[in-house]
Amino acid sequence: MAETQTQALWWASESFWRKMAIWVTAGSFVVLIFLTFDTVKQITAGGKRVPAYSVINHRVDYVFDEERNFQVPVIGPEEPLFGKKLTEDEAEALVSKGKLTTQAKNCMGCHTLLGNGSYYAPDLTKSWLDPSWGSKEVREQSMVEFLMDPTDKLHNAIGRRMPNLGITEAEARATVAFLKWMSAIDTNGFPTNFQPIDQADAAPEVAVEAAPAVEVAAPVQQ
Ligand code: HEC
Repeated sequence: MAETQTQALWWASESFWRKMAIWVTAGSFVVLIFLTFDTVKQITAGGKRVPAYSVINHRVDYVFDEERNFQVPVIGPEEPLFGKKLTEDEAEALVSKGKLTTQAKNCMGCHTLLGNGSYYAPDLTKSWLDPSWGSKEVREQSMVEFLMDPTDKLHNAIGRRMPNLGITEAEARATVAFLKWMSAIDTNGFPTNFQPIDQADAAPEVAVEAAPAVEVAAPVQQ
């Protein structure tokens, strides 16, 4: 009696659910393989969202995109890091060294990078564009000096200080390259409400003296 009933209700039979489990597992497996390959394309340097390493030879702007309703990185004119234009291979080597440094010194123990890590210290995704570096003219040097000895430099007024991690100058420069490259990644507006550094060139000293005050105050940004 019970057996006939189970056979009648096809959707309640054990064999139906067994087959279903096998099909769903197999189907998900195929979808996951597809997604893995699709993601690799999206996260590889040189793609649409993650720029090639040689982006460190360029200025990185961070501007509001009306359509997407958040800020997006825009690769600007040439502005080589430390004033030296690098080839793609040299840039990759430098950025990789910087990434290795952040891993070796466990920056994620305090910071988040692209949102991953700890919440003791600021997220570093856009730290290259942080106005706390003063101006874009002194930023590179300030960053290197900060990384090599941050203890006496109160930076963001968050009331916490970064310890000295024994970073060499070469490591610090590579880390700055890594941070510059990371700031150029399109992160769908993460972190939100980030105010970028003023990238306008400082007015040359002579012009400041010669030109009337109104002209000097006019914004130089496009
Ligand atoms: C023990 C915790 C700790 C570790 C580890 C640490 N930091 Fe920090 N870091 C801080 C704190 C705290 C601040 C904020 C300092 C301030 O505002 O004066 C900071 C600030 C910074 C800033 C300035 C942030 C900005 O947006 O301008 C940078 C860049 C930075 N850290 C990079 C690094 C890198 C790179 C590493 C790894 C090599 C690292 N930190 C490891 C605690 C840490």
